[in-house]
Amino acid sequence: MQQQSDILSKVTSRLQNSLFIPFDTIMENNNTAASTNKPSLFEGVPLAPADPILGVSVAFKADPSPNKVDVSVGAYRDDNGKPVVLKCVLEAERRLLGASKEYLTIDGIPEFNRASAQLLYGDAMKGQEKRMVTVQSLSGTGALRIGIIFIRKYLPAGTTVYASRPTWTNHHNICKESGVPSKEYAYYDNKNNRLDFEGMLRDMENAPNGSVFLLHLCAHNPTGCDPTNEQWGIIADLMEKKKHIPFIDCAYQGYASGDLDRDAYSARLFFKRGFEMFSSQSYSKNFGLYGERAGALTIVSNNPENVPKMLSQIKMDIRAMYSNPPTHGARIVATVLADPELHALWITELKQMSNRIIQMRQALLDALRVRNVPGDWTHITSQIGMFTYTGLTAPQVEFIIKKYHIYMLGSGRVSVAGLNTKNINYVADAIADAVANAK
Ligand code: LMR
Repeated sequence: MQQQSDILSKVTSRLQNSLFIPFDTIMENNNTAASTNKPSLFEGVPLAPADPILGVSVAFKADPSPNKVDVSVGAYRDDNGKPVVLKCVLEAERRLLGASKEYLTIDGIPEFNRASAQLLYGDAMKGQEKRMVTVQSLSGTGALRIGIIFIRKYLPAGTTVYASRPTWTNHHNICKESGVPSKEYAYYDNKNNRLDFEGMLRDMENAPNGSVFLLHLCAHNPTGCDPTNEQWGIIADLMEKKKHIPFIDCAYQGYASGDLDRDAYSARLFFKRGFEMFSSQSYSKNFGLYGERAGALTIVSNNPENVPKMLSQIKMDIRAMYSNPPTHGARIVATVLADPELHALWITELKQMSNRIIQMRQALLDALRVRNVPGDWTHITSQIGMFTYTGLTAPQVEFIIKKYHIYMLGSGRVSVAGLNTKNINYVADAIADAVANAK
C-alpha cells in the first residue's frame, strides 16, 4: 500500500506541468531485484512521458482512496459508476457464440464495411458506392493511422495535417509516428468558452492549398463544442475554395444528440458537396466496444477507377502492420446493424446513454450554482457529447486530484460519463474548493 501511494504521489506531482510518468515504468523502477551485472544494449532508451489520457486512468486505478472518482478517459459508466455492456451487444454475442475464429480477409468483414459506410454517410452515398473504399480498422486510432500513412504515400510530399487547437491528444502522435507533419488551427475560444469560428476560418484560409483538415464529426473532443450546421456550410465553402481535404474523425456518432443521422451532418455535407475525403469511425463509445477495437476507414475518390488500386495499397499496409483485423467486435456491430430489432434496441440504448450524460451536465451546473461557485459555468450544458471542457486550470486540476482523488485531464477536461447521482455533489464540492483555493 505504501509503495502504491508513493507511486501515486510521483504521478500526481507531475500533473501541474502535464509531465506524466509512465506508471508501468515506475513499477519497474521500484523492482530492481531482477537486474543482472551485465551491460545492457538498452541503456540509451529514454523514459517516455505517460499518455495524458490513459496515464491518468492508470494513476486512478493505483489510487487506494475509497472516495476516488474517474472522470478522465472517455468511457461510459452507469449511475453506479460501472462500465456497461449494451443489451444489443449481449444478444449479438449470444448469436455469435461458436462463430469461426479463422482469419478475416485483410480489409475485414464486407458486411461490416458496407454497414459502417452506410451508417456514416446515409443517403448521401446512394449510387456513389463505387467511389468509396472502406476497410475495417483497429477502431478509430487504427483508421486514422492507416489513413494518414496513405496521405504520406499518395498525397503530394509535405502535405500537412491540421488539427484543431485543442484536439484529442493522440491526433498529433499518430501523424508524427506516420511521418506526416501536423499543425494546429484555431478552434476554441478559452476566454468565452465557445467556438473561435473566425480564428478557424482564418487558419484555413492561411494554410497552403490542399492541406488535410482533421475535423471532429460531432461532440468535439475535448471541448464538446461543435460548429452549427450553418457554420459547417461556411467551412465547406472555404475548404472547397482552398482545395483542402477533410479527414473526419467520427468517434462519437450518436453521442452528441442521441440521433445518428443528425450527428452525421458534417460528413454527409462534405460528401454531397463532392469532396475527396477521409473518415475514421470508432465503435468504442457508441457500441461500448472499447477493448474490441472495432472501427473503419473510408476514403472517397472522385474517380471510381482509383478505388481498386487504393484498396490494394491499403491492404499492403495493413498486412505489414497487423496482417488482418480482429473478428469479434466487428461481427457484433455487423450483426446489430443488419438486424432491425437489434438495430432499434441499439438506438434506444444509445439515447439512454446520451440522455444520462445530458442530465449529468445539468446536475453539475445546478450543483455549482447551489454552491455559488464564481464564474459562468453555462458552457457545461451548452457543450455536447461525452466531455465538458471545464476551464479549470492545471493547478486547480492538481489540487482536485491530490485532495479529492478525482481524476480528470490536466487540460481541465471532465468525462461527464463518469459523473453520477452519487458522486456529483462530491465533484461539485471539489470544484468549488479548487476555484476558491487553488489559482
Ligand atoms: C478519450 O479521449 O478519453 C478516449 O478517446 C480514449 C482514448 O483513447 O484517448
